[in-house]
Amino acid sequence: MNDFVRIFDTTLRDGEQSPGCSMTTPQKLVMARALAELGVDVIEAGFAAASPDDFNAVASIAREVKGSRVAALARCQRQDIERAAAALEQAEAGRIHVFIATSDIHLAHKLRMSRAEALEAAAAGVELARRYCEDVEFSAEDASRSDPAYLAEVMSAAVEAGATTLNVPDTVGYAIPAEYGAMFAYLSAHVRGIEKAILSCHCHDDLGLAVANSLAAIQNGARQVECTINGIGERAGNAALEEIVMALRTRANHFGVGTRIKTQRLYPTSRQLIAVTGSAVARNKAIIGENAFAHESGIHQHGMLRNRETYEIMAPEDVGVSRSQLVLGKHSGRAALSDRLRELGFELDEAALNQAFAHFKALADKKKEVFDADLEAIALGSTGNEQGPWRLLGVQINGAIGRDAVPSASVRLAHESGRIVQEAAVGDGPVHAIFAAIERATAAVIKLRQYQVRSISTGEDAQGEARIEVEADGRDYRGRAVSTDILEASALALVEVINRLERRRALAAQEEAVA
Ligand code: KIV
Ligand code: ZN
Repeated sequence: MNDFVRIFDTTLRDGEQSPGCSMTTPQKLVMARALAELGVDVIEAGFAAASPDDFNAVASIAREVKGSRVAALARCQRQDIERAAAALEQAEAGRIHVFIATSDIHLAHKLRMSRAEALEAAAAGVELARRYCEDVEFSAEDASRSDPAYLAEVMSAAVEAGATTLNVPDTVGYAIPAEYGAMFAYLSAHVRGIEKAILSCHCHDDLGLAVANSLAAIQNGARQVECTINGIGERAGNAALEEIVMALRTRANHFGVGTRIKTQRLYPTSRQLIAVTGSAVARNKAIIGENAFAHESGIHQHGMLRNRETYEIMAPEDVGVSRSQLVLGKHSGRAALSDRLRELGFELDEAALNQAFAHFKALADKKKEVFDADLEAIALGSTGNEQGPWRLLGVQINGAIGRDAVPSASVRLAHESGRIVQEAAVGDGPVHAIFAAIERATAAVIKLRQYQVRSISTGEDAQGEARIEVEADGRDYRGRAVSTDILEASALALVEVINRLERRRALAAQEEAVA
C-alpha cells in the first residue's frame, strides 16, 4: 500500500500546549507508547529547545518508543535544530521538523523579516537539519494566510534544500475547506520538485473546520495529516485524529485512501489521554464521546434491533468501544479480568495486571457487579492516588444535616518526603469541609472553578467519578478520580489536582535553576 495517508500525531507537542493538557515526561512516555500501539506513523514528541524538560521528554521517547518515527520541532535556527538533533540521537527513526512563518502579517510583526530573508532562513534551516537527519519536514507557519505564489517559492526552496515533507498549516484556523483544498492543488502544481516530497496538512479548529479542512487537503493530494487525540491543542484545538481516521475509513468509497491506524485502539488511546491529562471530552464528541454510539430514541432503538445499519454508520467495536456489557464479580479470577481488559483494549504487563487485579478484588468486595466502566477506570489507574507528592490516607466526615448543623471533615495525607499531615476544617457541606481540610493540609492556594460528580456505571452501588477544575498560579489544573464513595472520589480528585500543581511548580523551579 503506497498510497496512504500518514498520520502525524502532535498530541505531545501542539496538543500539550493547550491549557490543562500539560504532561510530565513519564506521562508523555505513557502516551507515546499508546500512540505507537495505535499505529501512528509519526509521533511529534516536543519542541526540544523549549526547555530542559521538553528536551528530556523528546530524548526519552526517542530512546524508548519503537514502531513510529519520532519528530522534534525546531525553528529555522541553528540552536533549535542542534537541540532537536541531539534529542533524537537514539531514535529508531527520527525526523527534524523545522518551521518559519510565511504570511506577511507574521513576517512584518513577529519575525520582522522580509519575504526574501524568510525564504533564505527556511532553506538554510532545512539544509542544516538534513546534515543531522535524512528525514526533514518543513512547515510554513500561517501558510493558509500566505501569498500562494510566495509560499510555493518557499516550499520549492525547502525541497531543493532536502525537505522530504512539506507542511501547510492553517495556524489560526482561518481556512475553509474549498479554499484550503485549492491551496494543495496549487502547491502540487507549482512547487518545483514536489514529487520528491509528501504534502501535509495541519489544521486548527477555531471555526470548527479543522477536520473538514484536513479532509479537503487529502482530497487535493495531502498524504500526511497532522492531528491530535481528542482534538486537543492551542485555543479551539487541532484536528481530531480519531475523526479523520474514521471519516477516511467509513467513507472509503468517497476518499479512496486510508491510514495504517489500528482503529480498535482509538477509544482506549483517547481514554488514556483523558486519564493522563484529566481533561474530559464532551459526551457527544464524535467517535469517542460517551454518547457516540448511544441510541436513546425509541424509533432509533427499534430500527437498530432490526438492522443496526439503519442508524449506525460505524460499529462501536471498530473504534474499540465494547458493545457487550459483560459483568465481572468477586468470584471472577485473574484470567477473566485479563481477558476482559484485553477485549476493552488494555494490554497490561504482568506488574500492571497484578495491580489491576488487586484493585479489582477490592472493588468487587464493595460492589456486587463490576462493569466495563469500572474496569476501564482500574486499567487507566484513575483511582486518583497514584502520583505524588501527596497521597490521601484517610478522610473522616461529620456530615451533620439541618439548618444549624456545621459539617466538618478531617483528613490525613502523606507527603513523599515522609511527612504525615493531619488537618480538620468546617464547611457549608461535607465536600466543602473536605476540600478546606485538604487545602489547609497541603497549604495549596487554589480557586475552584468546576466540580462535577457522576455515576460511571449502573446500580445503587455504582462507582462515582469526581472531576475538578481549579485555577492556581494563573493556570488551569484538572483532576479526576473514581470511587464507590463520592466523597472519597472528590477528595482524591482534589489531591490529584494539588499534585499536578506541585509537580508543575517543581518543574518550573528546576528549569529556572538550569537557565
Ligand atoms: O499551527 C502551526 O502552525 C504549527 C506549526 C509549528 C507546525 O503548529
Ligand atoms: Zn499547530
